[in-house]
Amino acid sequence: MSLSLDTPVTFLDPYNADPETEWRRLRELGHLVPIELDGAVRTWATADHATAERVFTSPAFSKDPKHWAAFQQGHIPEGWPLLPLITMKSMLNREGEDHTRLRALLAKAFTPRRIELLRPMIEDMAGQLLDSLETADGVVDLRRQYAFALPMGVISHLFGVDADTDRDLLAAHYGAVISSQSTPLQVQHAQAGLGQVIGKLIETKRTHPGDDLTSALIAARDGEDRLNDEELVETLLLMLFAGHETSKNLITNAVRSLLEHPDQIAAARSAATAGWSHAAVEETLRWRSPIRVVMFYYATQDVWMDGVLVQQGEPVLIYVAATGRDTARFGPDAEEFKPDRTDAARHLSFARGVHYCIGAPLGRMTASIALQALFSRFTVACEDLSDLTEEWTYASNSVQALPVTLTVMAPV
Ligand code: HEM
Repeated sequence: MSLSLDTPVTFLDPYNADPETEWRRLRELGHLVPIELDGAVRTWATADHATAERVFTSPAFSKDPKHWAAFQQGHIPEGWPLLPLITMKSMLNREGEDHTRLRALLAKAFTPRRIELLRPMIEDMAGQLLDSLETADGVVDLRRQYAFALPMGVISHLFGVDADTDRDLLAAHYGAVISSQSTPLQVQHAQAGLGQVIGKLIETKRTHPGDDLTSALIAARDGEDRLNDEELVETLLLMLFAGHETSKNLITNAVRSLLEHPDQIAAARSAATAGWSHAAVEETLRWRSPIRVVMFYYATQDVWMDGVLVQQGEPVLIYVAATGRDTARFGPDAEEFKPDRTDAARHLSFARGVHYCIGAPLGRMTASIALQALFSRFTVACEDLSDLTEEWTYASNSVQALPVTLTVMAPV
């Protein structure tokens, strides 16, 4: 039987209740599988590393929704909650000159060399957060109080979001936008809320420019006219979201994975080099990716892939979290968490091609500092690692909370 989007063969669970079973099912069904989301949107999906890599890098695919036939023809319900994210006019969903122009405005601030200069600031921030957790009594939610607080603090510092209340509002609104539980009305409300916080930020920085990236973007907008008002807002929306959500998941997933493999923590602590946290971060990116799926890459022409015809205008969803467990790419032990493996960095968690994550050096460094600071100071224990609830969203791959007790380690 030839596969087609007219007859989806499966769907994705909006609540991500059993990710590993879902990945295996998709892979068993084929390299490219027609699926349905929320009973409303049909797309090809791949959980296969090689196929995903081809989609990320092939000129026959574009992130620009102007190539999405079903959307252009009005077949996607207006209130479909994920629509705003997929159609926003930031670099993420643009191609060609527009993509290059928007990405160039920020690329220099995110090179590995520039990011390395932030190390002392991030180490200080991690230390302060751990100071406050040391005095907390009993169980703390490591996800909210550390894995969220650190990257949100870092990206807010870079973009000049000073007030804690604004950071919390941003997090709550972004959470509602990507949640599978949100109604279209709640998404609309959250979007309006985001617009208000970003609008206030632009207003403040326009009247009181500072040494931050929001002020730099405004200068590019007002002085050299390299981005318009809508692009300014959507670039800030993208950066403040991507800058904390993914790193929050990365830190949470790394701590969770290490707690599930206590031998790895012991090995790491006894390691002579400081490279262990870097290796743990890389293996987490492969084994328990912070991102569940990347939506969408649209075929700009008819493409035959793996014996399947993806027609011009059809979307492909890349199941990034599954590609890291692909035995064809990572060998027979792909299902095992092994920070000492040498091929982890071939994962697709930061994508490939022109949309390769601009924040990869920052995400990697923040998570590595977070692990180093946490495990060199505390013994971390979680009472029931099998009782954690996954995030209810297609976008992220993490748990809702990570309750742990922290005990200060005696000096060696
Ligand atoms: C730490 C974990 C992170 C992961 C796993 C991650 C993952 C990704 C992925 C998969 C993409 C490509 C999406 C696509 O092709 O549609 C991407 C793009 C992007 N990421 Fe990240 N990201 C992370 C951290 C960050 C951080 C810290 C920032 C901001 C400072 C950031 C900003 C961006 C931006 C702006 C893009 C769009 C790039 C473009 O379209 O040219 N990311 N990221």
